Order: sequence, then structure tokens, then C-alpha cells
Amino acid sequence: MDVFVVQGGHPLSGTVSVSGSKNASLPMMAATLLSKGKSTLNNVPDLVDVRTLSALLRCLGCEVTREPSSALSIQVIDEEHSKAEYDLVRRMRASVCVLGPLLARRGSARVSLPGGCNIGHRPIDIHLRGFEALGATVTIEKGDIVVRSSRLVGNEIDLNGPNGSTVLGTCNLMSAAVLAEGNTVLHSAAREPEIIALGDYLNAMGAQVSGHGTSTIQIEGVDELHGAEANVIPDRIEAATLIIAAAITRSSIQIKNIETHHLNHVIQKLNGIGVVISKQDHSTIIVDATNRLLPTNLHALPYPETPTDVQAQLTALLSTIPGESVVRDSVFPDRFMHCAELNRMNASIRQQGDSAHISGVQQLHGAHVMASDLRASAALVLAALVANGESVIHRIYHLDRGYEALETKLNSLGAQIIRCSEERLLNRKNHELQIRKSA
Ligand code: EPZ
Repeated sequence: MDVFVVQGGHPLSGTVSVSGSKNASLPMMAATLLSKGKSTLNNVPDLVDVRTLSALLRCLGCEVTREPSSALSIQVIDEEHSKAEYDLVRRMRASVCVLGPLLARRGSARVSLPGGCNIGHRPIDIHLRGFEALGATVTIEKGDIVVRSSRLVGNEIDLNGPNGSTVLGTCNLMSAAVLAEGNTVLHSAAREPEIIALGDYLNAMGAQVSGHGTSTIQIEGVDELHGAEANVIPDRIEAATLIIAAAITRSSIQIKNIETHHLNHVIQKLNGIGVVISKQDHSTIIVDATNRLLPTNLHALPYPETPTDVQAQLTALLSTIPGESVVRDSVFPDRFMHCAELNRMNASIRQQGDSAHISGVQQLHGAHVMASDLRASAALVLAALVANGESVIHRIYHLDRGYEALETKLNSLGAQIIRCSEERLLNRKNHELQIRKSA
């Protein structure tokens, strides 16, 4: 297993470019199961979750090729199988997004029920209720979800849940309804940019989807879909992470390939605490965080509000701004495992219910810390950039699932991050100990 060894205290400067969106790529890749022709997705990031879904699509009869240009071409060759194996599903919850396309195109889908998750309770009951409303039968057999239907029929479906709508649930139901007989209306649909990207892609394949990006999506079923080409949108969560990297190091950097309108709320919040973010052209910004920053309160909610996927990174930032801040997460109210690790770096954060109460400190200290999930890993990397001395971040495989070459990008801006194996780190320690003994 790899770790990051980070030497903190180096300001950032220069230019960095945002990769394609992980969370837009995954449902789009899964949706290619709906057609027989060849599809090409441009700007797909090369990261572990994309490779896991590529492996799953291959098991489901697709030919998946990564082109040198960061495009992924996918073609369905064999439609016989509709089972997603446990070994792949356990590695990535987003594997559930093959359920809708398989059900619609192959008449059944069998996917291992995703297990526990480090960011809290993550049921998929709304997805399953939606499939039933389209006429499918849903059973749990030996730990697998099995959905079956000889012909899906359009219906009105409400996707609201206890914590708002569901992003992948909306993707699954859109992807199932495009081949259903008649019309479907999805109420309380998720409005995230990734939903708009999927709707546009389905339409490029010949579907009749409208209203995507609002809370009511209308879908007119069609008989078949063809392959299509699409450009994956820039990753708004990576973009926000890079903005926060500049903010936490009180630096000024340029960020390219960013869709600022996908981050309006985060940008407004950061402006409000003193980070100056100015647009240079439609996809380039300058972040200037060299002024004194102020504490604030934040609330993570579904789009267009502050995303839960930047809650951990913002918590790390606020832990370095003297004064009292409160960060609340209403999407995943238990997603606070990073707080205890940040406290090991001298942060002062108290979790209470769905909120983190932060007393900002003057200086974080380097420490050994453990990443618990993708965004928690990013928060720890950000904290390590400003901590004094050396930090070692363990279990960075979480980070590799969702960020394309984050350490390379940060190092190009002046950060000092080394990736090495746990084993090499241990050898280095033993070597240092020997030198000290013999001195
Ligand atoms: C997507 O997960 C993202 N994953 C997550 O990003 C993101 O945190 C999340 O949306 C929220 O924005 C991908 O796009 C691959 P949800 P998803 O269903 O769709 C509850 C990251 O770090 N709920 O919108 O699985 C659920 O428990 C990842 O990149 C139900 O109650 O999340 C949560 O409280 C992590 N029943 C809320 O809804 C359901 O059937 C929102 O979850 C489904 C969800």
C-alpha cells in the first residue's frame, strides 16, 4: 500500500488544469450498455474507479479501450450476461449504476448488494422502488439484488428520500426509463451537473429526455439507442479541491478547465471569507488567498448548494482560520471521519450530530494520519500542505479512486509530496534509527 509523505509549509504558485469528472464519467460509461454501436467518451479521467467500471463493463460483454487522447471507447459485443460480480461491486459502490441500463436493455440485472460505506449509511431503496414503479420485480437473492422485467412501462416516480434526492438513483431511473414503453416523469430528481451530462449523452444516443437539471425530468421511451460521442465535463469536486489548496496555503494560483457555474455556491462562500476568485475567461480562474481569511458556517446540501464532496476539504481549510466555524452535512450526516485525523494534526474540531464545530488554529502540525474515504484523503493532503514538518498520509488508495494524479498536480505548483510504499517508509525509518544509534 502506498502512502504520501508531505513536507508542509510550501506556498503554491503556477497553473493547474482540472481533469474530467469521475462522477459524470461513471453513469455515462454504464449508459453505453443501452446501445449496440460504438460510443466514445472524451476527457475521461484515468483513475481507479474508472478502471474498475471498465473491468465490470468488460465482464458484461463490452470492449473498452482507452485511447491515448484520454478518450474511452466502449462497444457492446455480447449481451448475454447481466450479473455484476461481488469482487468488482465491493470495490466501488457506483457499480450499482449498471442496474438501470442492464434492466432496460437485457431484461434483468443481478448486482451484489453494496455493503457498508465509510461515509455513512447508503441504502439504494429509492432506486429499487423506482424500478418497481416501472414494472420490474426486485428480489434479494444470496446477497445480490435481482431486478427483472420483460417490458418496462413508463410511470410517475418520486425520488425524494430522507436526505433529499439521489444522484445515482436519478441516473439509474433515467437510464431505465429511456427504453420503457410510454412516458416517465421523475419528480424530486437530483439536479447535479452530472445528471445534465448523462441526460445530454442519452439524448445523443437517441433518447428523448427533457428537464434534466431541474427537479422534474420527462422521458419519452424509445425502441432503441445508438452509440454516440460525448465530452465529459470537468470535475467540479477536483476543481474545488484545487481552489481550497490555494486557500489553505494562502497562495495564488491559476486553474484551467473549470466550469465556475458548477461551483457557484462554493465560490460565493470562499469569496465571503476573503478568497478572491476572478474569472480570466470562460474556463480559467485565478484564486488569490493572500489576504486574511475569516471563519464561517457552511451547510452541505444537494446541488446547487455546497456539495458534501467538498465538506471535508472545507473543514480542513476552516481548521486553519482562527475563530469559530460550523460545518454541517445534511447529505451524509455521518461523514466526519476526517475530523479525528485532522485533530491529530493539531486541529480543534468537535463533532456533534451532523455538524463539525471548528475552533481555527494558527498552525497545524505534521503527523501520521489515516485516510478513511476519497474526500477525507483530499482533506488530509490539504492539511498536510500547511502543517509544519512532515506528514504521512496512509491508505491513499482511497484518493487514487477519484483524483487523477493529484500529487503530480500539486507538486507542479510547488508542493512537496512523495508517494512511496509503506515498506519503503519503514525501511527509511529503520535506516534513520541506525544512523542515530551509531552517532
Ligand atoms: C453520488 O453518490 C456521488 N457518487 C457521491 O460522490 C456523492 O457524495 C453523492 O452522490 C451526493 O452528492 C457518484 O456520483 C458516483 P445519493 P450517490 O444517492 O448517488 C440517501 C465521491 O466522493 N439515499 O445522492 O450514491 C443517501 O443515503 C462520492 O465522489 C437513500 O436514502 O448518493 C444520502 O443520504 C461519494 N436511498 C442521500 O440519499 C437511496 O436509495 C444522497 O445520496 C439512495 C440514497
